[in-house]
Amino acid sequence: MSDHNPLPLARSKAAVREATKAWQAQGQRVALVPTMGALHDGHLSLIAAARRRADRVVASIFVNPTQFGPNEDFASYPRDEAADLAKLASAGCDLAYLPAAEEMYPAGEQTRVVPGALAEPLDGASRPGFFTGVCTVVAKLFGQVRPDLAVFGEKDFQQLAIIRRMTEDLALAVEIIGAPIIREADGLAMSSRNRYLTPPERRIAGRLPEILNKVATRIAGGVATDTALLQGLGDLEDAGLAPVDYLELRRADDLTPLPSRPLRRQEIEQARLFAAVMLGRTRLIDNIPLTRA
Ligand code: PAF
Repeated sequence: MSDHNPLPLARSKAAVREATKAWQAQGQRVALVPTMGALHDGHLSLIAAARRRADRVVASIFVNPTQFGPNEDFASYPRDEAADLAKLASAGCDLAYLPAAEEMYPAGEQTRVVPGALAEPLDGASRPGFFTGVCTVVAKLFGQVRPDLAVFGEKDFQQLAIIRRMTEDLALAVEIIGAPIIREADGLAMSSRNRYLTPPERRIAGRLPEILNKVATRIAGGVATDTALLQGLGDLEDAGLAPVDYLELRRADDLTPLPSRPLRRQEIEQARLFAAVMLGRTRLIDNIPLTRA
């Protein structure tokens, strides 16, 4: 099962299942943290969340080709297996699952998991097929690892909602845990793609959470949604966070839009603000609630 590494590795679905089956036979709960590698502290917080809830933690690293569009960064997506494995080992992960592409998409495979309305707005509108690729690979990982629970970050809030729905709809018997966004000192949400940013871009990137917080505060304070969003759009563009792909306020539970007028208290509590912007060649996404717990 293991290469020359401090962390046990599984490179085939048979090997990963052999390990998880043995743990579960001893009554141990197994958590899965699916990743595409290029790990940062945000991922390590998912491992920590998994550790708190399970006896064993498996992290998968697989850059999933079916969730990249033809003009996206699949070929150049950062890959650093040695650094990732060292981080997983120090975070207390028990097993790394690194399947080859043929393990996930063997010759002759042809099935896709296509999500419904939750996948239509936001990133679903901008990245056709993205969530079909995500759901397909996550369903495969669930089938291969058979975890008792799986942890996903709220940084990809729409992805988390879609995976919850898929798990329920397909009765996949995996408990889905959402974990909060981990941010840099200036508020920028941690992301594997942040490493694409040049130093001047990195300085601008911190304006994204700052502007989102300003928009959220204004809406929570009674400013009409459309007025606050329009001003936020101008602020993003002025900061150089452009083009803006979307800046939208939606209900956190079903991702439907909220009214453009000033919101009622209950609507404010249900709302989540979402943004996707380009900064040079890097696409940044972020999301925040309107009210802090
Ligand atoms: O969030 C990600 O890194 C990916 O979308 C996931 C869930 C690992 C599926 O490839």
